[in-house]
Amino acid sequence: MSTPLIQTRQLTISFGAHKAVNNVSIEIEKDIFTTIIGPNGAGKTTLFNLISGLLRPTGGQVLFKGTDITHLSPLQRVALGMGRSFQLTNVFPALTVQENVRLALQAQARIGYRIFADHRKFRQLNEKTGLLLEQVLLQEKKNFLAASLTHGEQRKLELAMVLALDPEVLLLDEPTAGMALEEVPAMFELLDRTKKVTDKTIVLIEHKMDLVTGLSDQVIVLVNGSVLAQGSPPEVAANPAVLAAYLGGGVLSEACA
Ligand SMILES: Nc1ncnc2c1ncn2[C@@H]1O[C@H](COP(=O)(O)OP(=O)(O)OP(=O)(O)O)[C@@H](O)[C@H]1O
Ligand SMILES: [Mg+2]
Repeated sequence: MSTPLIQTRQLTISFGAHKAVNNVSIEIEKDIFTTIIGPNGAGKTTLFNLISGLLRPTGGQVLFKGTDITHLSPLQRVALGMGRSFQLTNVFPALTVQENVRLALQAQARIGYRIFADHRKFRQLNEKTGLLLEQVLLQEKKNFLAASLTHGEQRKLELAMVLALDPEVLLLDEPTAGMALEEVPAMFELLDRTKKVTDKTIVLIEHKMDLVTGLSDQVIVLVNGSVLAQGSPPEVAANPAVLAAYLGGGVLSEACA
């Protein structure tokens, strides 16, 4: 088997006496769509914070393509190819949709505002912005202020901004959080499309497991900071510990039936 893109070894973080992530050892293989599920407070976001470098573990390691990156900053991890979205929307509301994406692209290219001095580069930037907006199906809203978008559209914009970083792996923390129910399927379709048309490896934290089982190759169940189960959606659905501890019987297995 090839070296996993991301690997954690006995990853642990304590907040006082509480171990929010406790001895977590997982592997994310390239091109394997992984979904992390678990009840509120299970440690899912904290695990992402440890993987993306926003938090330093009290124990254990994070590896990227086999290299220990535990000591690296979040920016250094982005430079290596990790992209991350947050549970709360992170767009600039007073900028237009295309300005938001353009800024993310400029950040990625480290070219800053000097880009405006060079018309050729500016055109390239606009083309890339257009492609990304097409990819997340927001091209018709490009001149709208981000603040005027629905919550679902803002999450799509946020996805475009993460894609602008051109990461190898996308860590997406509940991209449907706070969305109106009718907006949710479009977001999952978008993730499915992203999985199919790009070479990005996606790791998703999601509560709406019934909607993502079709997308997921691997499901990791976190409970109380520890991995309770890991496997394909049907394997996890059939796991008695999962049914007993998390789902209270049936929700996931119905979804996988
Ligand atoms: N910076 C922090 N300081 C202290 N406790 C924290 C901190 N961050 C998280 N926690 C605690 O760690 C636990 C795990 O929180 P986390 O946000 O990772 O859960 P989650 O699985 O993402 O939950 P949700 O599904 O509600 O988003 C919770 O008990 C939370 O209160
Ligand atoms: Mg969370």
